[in-house]
Amino acid sequence: MKIDSICCIGAGYVGGPTMAVIAQKCPDIKVTVVDLNEARIAAWNDTDLNKLPVYEPGLAEVVKEARGRNLFFSTEVDKAIDEAQMIFISVNTPTKMYGAGKGMAADLKYIELCARQIARVAKSDKIVVEKSTLPVRTAEAIKSILDNTGNGVNFQILSNPEFLAEGTAVQDLHNPDRVLIGGNDPEAIQALAEVYGRWVPQERILTTNVWSSELSKLTANAFLAQRVSSINAISELCEKTEADVSEVAKAIGMDSRIGSKFLKASVGFGGSCFQKDILNLVYIAKSYGLHEVADYWEQVVIMNDHQKHRFAKNIVRTLYNTVSGKKIAMLGWAFKKDTNDTRESAAINVAQDLINEEAKVVVYDPKVEKSQIEFDLGNQSEAIAVETNPYEACKNAHAIAILTEWDEFTTYDWQKIYDSMLKPAFVFDGRNILDKQKMKDIGFVYNAVGSSN
Ligand code: NAD
Ligand code: UDX
Repeated sequence: MKIDSICCIGAGYVGGPTMAVIAQKCPDIKVTVVDLNEARIAAWNDTDLNKLPVYEPGLAEVVKEARGRNLFFSTEVDKAIDEAQMIFISVNTPTKMYGAGKGMAADLKYIELCARQIARVAKSDKIVVEKSTLPVRTAEAIKSILDNTGNGVNFQILSNPEFLAEGTAVQDLHNPDRVLIGGNDPEAIQALAEVYGRWVPQERILTTNVWSSELSKLTANAFLAQRVSSINAISELCEKTEADVSEVAKAIGMDSRIGSKFLKASVGFGGSCFQKDILNLVYIAKSYGLHEVADYWEQVVIMNDHQKHRFAKNIVRTLYNTVSGKKIAMLGWAFKKDTNDTRESAAINVAQDLINEEAKVVVYDPKVEKSQIEFDLGNQSEAIAVETNPYEACKNAHAIAILTEWDEFTTYDWQKIYDSMLKPAFVFDGRNILDKQKMKDIGFVYNAVGSSN
């Protein structure tokens, strides 16, 4: 079957960029991205490409090329479902915050709503593609809803998890390590494989059964996060022993069995995926009575929480055990560079810990809006100030904390910043992006993650 119309439910960090690239690479396929959130759809349709709701390097160019040609953003969900042969579900699957599995299980209410809506609206056969990250065996639930509430049409379900990382989404979509398609029906699998086959080499399109595909996504994130927690655990040991975590990471990473990626010690991993997906994996293991398996993976999250709080505690301890009334400049709020996403950013925890210690926290981030920063802190806007100029943020500060590895931070005039600060001038580099020796030569008391001073 040749696909000529696609609908994607959910115009977020995954649905938006993924569909923009599919539309760019397949000009003959009509791609409609729908969302309930009117403001978000309006932003995707904004003529000013700086106003797109998702900031990703290279995304504006892709949207510019395809939007209005074969890429459309709309709030008319029913219409888009009706017209499409293939429907991607790319809605959010956050950690459930109520009832059974609270704080751990994935909340699948948005997924179920989509399935019921598709069932109600569809009047012709559809291929339904799970793009969201879902617990293993969700396809079974979706199939049951579709078959029991539908209009007698035929539904095929595929699992096609997305492996893009924010900040490099367009690059990852253009050149994926692999595309994973899980399904039972060879024709449906083939139809989706042909879409990706327009630009992804055949050998990188991997097909599996649905359950392996669903479980592979949670597993991939758990393994990646585990590496960050592993190196972060070693970073604390380095600080006690005069070993240097960057040197240790380099030394172990050159072992090809280990590899060099995802070994950067940091203030802790953030983002909408790692914590949520590991907790979901832990919950699934528990629900099968696999307590050792659950405890093993939960430790990755426990270690990460420890790393975030440890960073804030170290600031307080170094500033003579009190930050009350002291100005602390936080550079970076996003959970990593090159994105405006702040979900689960370590910066939020660090800021909250410092606010609890009565510090005067001032934040600067090149891409995150003031309203978002205030929202992340539960709208206690009086507790925090936001600056749009980094030099202003650092002026008269006792300390600077670097929370995100934005490239621009390395290009600042650090002498000028030093001159404007109170002395001793402390820098806590949560990303190890600055040159330790240069910072010390200027006069800073420089603290990195994973090395002693
Ligand atoms: P997001 O919150 O940015 O976007 C989800 C969108 O879905 C929202 O705009 C929301 O309004 C919309 N939505 C929810 N229910 C809807 C409904 N019934 N009808 C229409 N629209 C609806 O989330 P995201 O970051 O794009 O993540 C989506 C999924 O992809 C999640 O399962 C996530 O785990 C997975 N994922 C995310 C990433 C990432 O880096 N963000 C990477 C891989 C996979
Ligand atoms: C992740 C996965 O990488 C991606 O494949 C999946 O589809 C979605 O989840 P993302 O959350 O966008 O992507 O970012 P990622 O680059 O994985 O970083 C996650 C967090 O780990 C960030 O806070 C990052 O700063 C941190 N990190 C990453 C480290 O602290 N050290 C590292 O070495 C790598």
